[in-house]
Parts: sequence; C-alpha cells; structure tokens
Amino acid sequence: MPGYVLAIDQGTTSTRAIVFDEKLRVRGVGQQEFPQHFPHPGWVEHNPEDLWESTVATIRTALADAALSAADIAAIGITNQRETVVLWERATGKPVHNAIVWQDRRTSALCRNLAAGGNESMVNERTGLLLDPYFSATKLGWILDHVPGARQRAEAGELAFGTVDSFILWRLTGGRVHATDATNASRTLLFNINRNEWDEDLLRLFSIPEALLPDVKDCAADFGTTDPDLFGVAIAICGIAGDQQAATVGQACFAPGMLKSTYGTGCFAVLNTGEQRAVSRNRLLTTIAYRLQGRNTYALEGSIFVAGASVQWLRDGLHLIERADETGRMAAMADDGEDVYLVPAFTGLGAPHWDADARGAFFGLTRNTGPNEFARAALEAVCYQTADLLDAMRRDFPQASDTVLRVDGGMVASDWTMQRLADILDAPVDRPVILETTALGAAWLAGHHSGVWPGMDGFSARWRLESRFQPQMSAKERDRKLKGWRDAVNRTLSNHS
Ligand code: G3P
Repeated sequence: MPGYVLAIDQGTTSTRAIVFDEKLRVRGVGQQEFPQHFPHPGWVEHNPEDLWESTVATIRTALADAALSAADIAAIGITNQRETVVLWERATGKPVHNAIVWQDRRTSALCRNLAAGGNESMVNERTGLLLDPYFSATKLGWILDHVPGARQRAEAGELAFGTVDSFILWRLTGGRVHATDATNASRTLLFNINRNEWDEDLLRLFSIPEALLPDVKDCAADFGTTDPDLFGVAIAICGIAGDQQAATVGQACFAPGMLKSTYGTGCFAVLNTGEQRAVSRNRLLTTIAYRLQGRNTYALEGSIFVAGASVQWLRDGLHLIERADETGRMAAMADDGEDVYLVPAFTGLGAPHWDADARGAFFGLTRNTGPNEFARAALEAVCYQTADLLDAMRRDFPQASDTVLRVDGGMVASDWTMQRLADILDAPVDRPVILETTALGAAWLAGHHSGVWPGMDGFSARWRLESRFQPQMSAKERDRKLKGWRDAVNRTLSNHS
C-alpha cells in the first residue's frame, strides 16, 4: 500500500496542499493565494470557484513537487477555514452566491436582535457558541433571504449547504458525497454538540431548511473517493477537520489541559478539556476538538479575529514595511519609553469581548512614535490578546493553570514575538520542529484511518520541540503593560462611554 498522505488546507487567504511521507516528513507543497472580495464595509466574500480551482491546482503542484503520482497517495485529509458558508445546486454543483467568509459582519444586527430576544443561553447550551456573525447560520440565512428563489429551492431539496470542507468534498467526489465532520458542524450554530446531531429548534430559530444539511461524520472516516477524472485514479478521502481543530491534532494536544495557539490571519487558542464539555463563564467558546469513533473530545476556544492580519495591514494598508518578517527586527529597536498600543478591532473584537461593532484604534502616540513603535504595537497586540484568552481559560478550566502553550502559524517564526508572548503570558511557549501542524493534523486523521500512520500515542511521541521561550520580564513591567492594554481595549469597546 502506498504510504504517502496528502493534506488539503483550504485557508482564508490561500489554499495549500502538502504531501507527507510515512515518516510524517513534508515531501511536496503547493500553495496559491486567491482574491478576497469586500463588496461593502465589513463584508468579506470568496468566489467558491477560486477555492475549488486553487485546491485542484495545489494538489497537482504538491504531487509534482514530491515527484509522485496520485496512485502513490494512500489517503487525503481535508482541513479548512471554518464557518465560511457555501450554498450550491445539487444538480450542477454550481454555487448560488459567493461564499460568505467567517470574518463577514453583515448579520451583526440580526445577531444582536436574536440575543435581545433572550435566545443566547439556549444557543450556548446546545452549540457552545455565542450569537455572533462569526458563525455560519446567520450567513446562510442571509443568502437564503437575498438570492431570488433560494429559499424555495432549498425547501424543495434542490440546494446543498456546506462549510468549505463540505463543498470541496462534494467537488472532489464528483457530487457523490454531501458530508462534513463534527468539528466543522460544531461551528455552524445549528449543531447540538451534546447530542451530536443537527438541532431542530436551532434550525427553526435561524429558519434553515433541513434538506440543505450534510451528513456529519467522525473526523477520521470514509468520506468517499476522488472522481478518477480529476487526478487519474480514485484516492480515498479519510479525514476532515476545521483548521484550528486540525492544528490541535497536529500539535498532539490529545490530553486534557493541553493548549495550542495558531497565529495566522487571526489567532485561535484551543484548550483540550477532555470528553466532558467544559462550560465557559468567561465568554470562551465550547467546541468539538475532534470526534473519533463516535466520541467527542471537547475544547475551550478563544478566537481572535486579527493577528497576522495587522502585520499585513502595516504592509499593504500603511506601506510601513515591505515584508512581514521585518516587524520582529523593528519591534526590537522600538523605543522602550513609548507605550503605544494597537487594538486591532478591524472586524470587531472576538473572545472574550465579542463586540462586533468595535473598530481598531492606536493609543499613546507621541511626536516620537514611528514605524518601529507601530510594528511593536501590532506584535504585542497579539501577545496581549493571547494573555486575555489564557486568563479566561485558567478561570474556566483550572487544569490549564500550569499549561505550556504550543504555537504554530506564520507569526511564530519571529523569535522576538515568541519571547514577548512568553513574557506577557508569564508561561513557557513551545515552538515545534514541524510548523505545518494544521496540514499535519488533517494528514494524521486520514493516514491513521487508512492504516498507514501510527495511532495517537505513536503520533504524540513524534512531536518535537524546536525552541522553548521562557518568561523573562519582571512582574512589575508585565503588570504595567497589561494594565495599559486593558485600558486601551476598554476605550475601544463600542459601548464605551
Ligand atoms: O474560524 C476561522 C478560522 O478557521 C480561519 O483560520 O487560518 O484560515 O485564518 P485561517
């Protein structure tokens, strides 16, 4: 049996395909960016055809890069940007609207109204989520209400809904499989994470016809095979997980109390809480970390919408830098006497504030403030926001108190940022050798299910530390900086008087 596993990572700004060998080493990579569409302020869309075409193209590139053919691939695992909504015709596979992306805020008034109507506690109890436009249900409702005929066609069973994994799966299998996995389902606001099923009351609350919904499977399962016309042979698809859950798996955070944080466009900290669902009293999300053999492992999640995106903004919006990796060096040269804070609420604030209407702000500017201080403020904002999440996690789940943070994602390449993160958290930060943890997690789900890769223990034993960053900052300095940050956030919240 061939021993290679291919992971598809369909993310917010780019699609990647990675071939891993039987020793879990990267053998080939394909990557493609695709256009972002911002039709109105606060709206974010993707053309689903771009997501699909970049998937096929990057798979071909990754195979060529690895000098392999499709016949060498034992299994495919899919991981994806979560919550983003696609609605398509069952007969043709054609989307009826652009995908509405997780960052899109168009349904914030609707969410406010639903919360004002007293629905949030029921929604939270069943889904672990909050009434925020971040999640899928209200975005799906928006398409049904705004595309002429869509609601009637949905009720007649002519349309299919999916998060991005589901759409890619549909296309890969030539329209034969309409399914998703429990982690992606758990981000829709429609899935009951206690009972592991679509929830009739939630479908009614958000006016979503049941005929639209995919089957929900374990993360490691038989998801069908690729249409042979695509790559020459049929390849088994054996794993699916949302990208943050896949990174949790890729970081081998399999025991309760283990925590990972991924620094990409946004930042998502996921704490394994075991087979019992933890209830957050601090506005964190409860979500499914993974479902294997029908059993859920739950997590507490802190979601920050802007992490690397603020560095991108320094580059593309302000033109202060040419390359993202300049920021670490600039931050190291910033003036210690300048206390500049950036609250990067470009698309509102996520956990633990959940303020969809907040907007970004700089504080503490003086005539001496320059590009270095802006760069430091952008990087430190990521550290402060992680500290807010960890603080909430420690209060919700005491086992998290002495946890080590496992990090991954583009920003963790910066030693300066990782040292500052450890300093602000007052906790060690571990950077692993393999930073492709999201793809690796999806690959492990598929590789393990198809029998070519080791089980959980064998996989955990292969996790390797590259660097541990230990806190070095004095408690006094940390407290002073955190106080400045919290003042800045309070002044940014939309209900600030
Ligand atoms: O919840 C949104 C998240 O899944 C997006 O992740 O890496 O595509 O920014 P990323």
